[in-house]
Amino acid sequence: MSGETSSLAQSAGSPPLLKVQNLVKRFPIRGGLLSRTVGHVHAVDGVSFELPAGETLGVVGESGCGKSTTGRCILRLIEPTSGEVWFEGKSVTHADKDQLRALARDMQIIFQDPFASLNPRMTVSAIIGEALTIHKLTKTRADYDARIVQLLETVGLSADHMRRYPHEFSGGQRQRIGIARALAVNPKLIVCDEAVSALDVSIQAQVINLLEDLQSQFGLTYIFIAHDLSVVEHISNRVAVMYLGRIVEIAPSKDLYTRPFHPYTEALLSAVPIPDPTVKRTRIRLQGDVPSPINPPPGCHFHTRCPIAQKGLCDVQSPVLKPVGEGHWVACHLRG
Ligand SMILES: Nc1ncnc2c1ncn2[C@@H]1O[C@H](COP(=O)(O)OP(=O)(O)O)[C@@H](O)[C@H]1O
Ligand SMILES: [Mg+2]
Repeated sequence: MSGETSSLAQSAGSPPLLKVQNLVKRFPIRGGLLSRTVGHVHAVDGVSFELPAGETLGVVGESGCGKSTTGRCILRLIEPTSGEVWFEGKSVTHADKDQLRALARDMQIIFQDPFASLNPRMTVSAIIGEALTIHKLTKTRADYDARIVQLLETVGLSADHMRRYPHEFSGGQRQRIGIARALAVNPKLIVCDEAVSALDVSIQAQVINLLEDLQSQFGLTYIFIAHDLSVVEHISNRVAVMYLGRIVEIAPSKDLYTRPFHPYTEALLSAVPIPDPTVKRTRIRLQGDVPSPINPPPGCHFHTRCPIAQKGLCDVQSPVLKPVGEGHWVACHLRG
């Protein structure tokens, strides 16, 4: 009954947990003796999406397309150049220091290489508990230790791990430590930035299962970033495909995999192996490399490699995202 009420409340227009509107991030390139700004890297070029509470948005695209920068701008680990981010209806982009400190508890990030992001001279207890101390979340040493043990057990580790150092753990265990550290402040949103990309396939599956369990246990919302489509398929409710700083297609996971519209999505999908050997899939090989984000191509960023691009249209006009199905949007002049 209560489930029914809450889903009705959602459809009656409760605000999304996260709303991102026209997010732009340009990194200045400095050169010359006076180190003047000589150009910009267009890392994120007008990204918009909404994320309801409890959902997982997968974000995929080749290396350098702006996935991490998008994640970091949302958390304001770096300042966006322009655009707006709202969390629970409150502006993140215009939050002052105090508001940001509160938001830092609600929104956490887990990085790709757990070893690089864990301080080698800190014990697991100190690593996981750093935020407990910063945000004064436990009163006594006993409280602190009890919370660390609880967090370790939540991520499938045990109490006797707390006095050890990161190098004593396997890659998968270290990623669990990273997850425990993120969970310490009871966040609502976690950005998983290539969180499983460095792990072996079997360990990847374990960590993804853990993330899914934690999601249902704590009602978490995820932005799950990966360069590999097959990794995000399983965990995501919806998937956004990025190319040179822009979302080119966003759709419910199943739709994106079975009915892709954008030629770039098709090309990415054609590289994903299918377990069923009777199903044939033609590999679409794209011409050339991803162009430099310093001077992205005019019009549709993808037109230089697109098998169906039309001269005078795709190289001139930027396509906007348009709806092609329930929750399915595509930015292509020729599809949809
Ligand atoms: N701090 C920075 N300074 C300059 N350029 C950056 C910086 N961070 C990222 N970039 C550039 O921005 C683009 C997007 O990077 P990134 O968001 O890391 O992509 P992804 O996570 O999809 O691999 C890349 O061209 C990258 O080189
Ligand atoms: Mg990245």
